[in-house]
Amino acid sequence: MAIKTVGVLGCGLMGSGIAQVCAASGYKTIVREVEQSFLTKGLGRIDKFLAGGVEKGKLTAAEKDRTLGNLSGTTNLEDLKDCELIVEAIIENVEEKAKAYAILDGVLREPAIVCSNTSSLCITELAARTTRPDRFTGLHFFNPVPLMKLVEVIRGLRTSDETYRTVFAFAPSLGKEPITAPDRPGFIVNRLLVPYLLDAIRAHENGLGTIEDIDKGMKLGTGYPMGPFTLLDFVGLDTTYYIANIMFEEYREPAYAPPPLLKRMVLAGRLGKKSGQGFYKY
Ligand code: 3HC
Repeated sequence: MAIKTVGVLGCGLMGSGIAQVCAASGYKTIVREVEQSFLTKGLGRIDKFLAGGVEKGKLTAAEKDRTLGNLSGTTNLEDLKDCELIVEAIIENVEEKAKAYAILDGVLREPAIVCSNTSSLCITELAARTTRPDRFTGLHFFNPVPLMKLVEVIRGLRTSDETYRTVFAFAPSLGKEPITAPDRPGFIVNRLLVPYLLDAIRAHENGLGTIEDIDKGMKLGTGYPMGPFTLLDFVGLDTTYYIANIMFEEYREPAYAPPPLLKRMVLAGRLGKKSGQGFYKY
């Protein structure tokens, strides 16, 4: 089945980025939010990013207009009925996702594929909450979506070969490089990245160095684009804490256990860049 129209559920940080790259790649893209105010905010974020791109000379004003012309927003899930592919990027809660899938199952055409951008939930479990487990995969993007080249494609136990091939081929059409990741907590990237970030917090708590020196060490010593504390603030401490807990619950290995400082920072509302303070102040 040829993909022409893509539906994106959620217009938060990830959903807006995903909708933007789909529209920029020529797909008619419909992004759905639960409330008009969230939609307005998300579409504004896309507009701002594209305007920044024009200013930086990364795209022309005509390309910006073409992208925005491919994009529309709605608060109504039924408006996604003609989409051949859906990327769901809503709150990381199985019940909330299942509610949205149930409505989609009632309106989508039979061959349509649903993908979840979940960073930590079990793809096989999410697929089981739809009437189309064979036409369901994980499709995990990275933040900031328009700039990060990678997507992870995750098969659930019941994903069909055809669905997997279609979704894997969809990624390069967005200018992304796909890799196949297993349906295990953290997939490939977070499985390696999260223990590293947690270890940086533990090392700092144990007196290894200041936040600034550890960041500088990893950035300049290894060529990482951001040191671990800058990256923690960027990803969000709540998101990291959430993923770490899911990984620890499943693997039961100390490397995934969230350190006490991380928990306390989340409890204190120091969530990183988005809340104005994390390991650094913004
Ligand atoms: N439009 C088009 N291009 C733009 C742009 C815009 N609005 N804004 C920036 N760019 C381009 C720049 O021109 C530049 O291009 P160039 O390399 O060709 O010159 C490139 O994007 C980088 O932009 P900047 O120079 O402004 O910014 P930095 O060099 O500081 O890079 C960054 C920013 C890409 C965020 C980099 O710091 C980085 O890669 N950080 C790590 C991010 C990361 O690890 N993300 C993954 C987190 S984990 C995750 O998401 C998984 C989840 O499940 C938790």
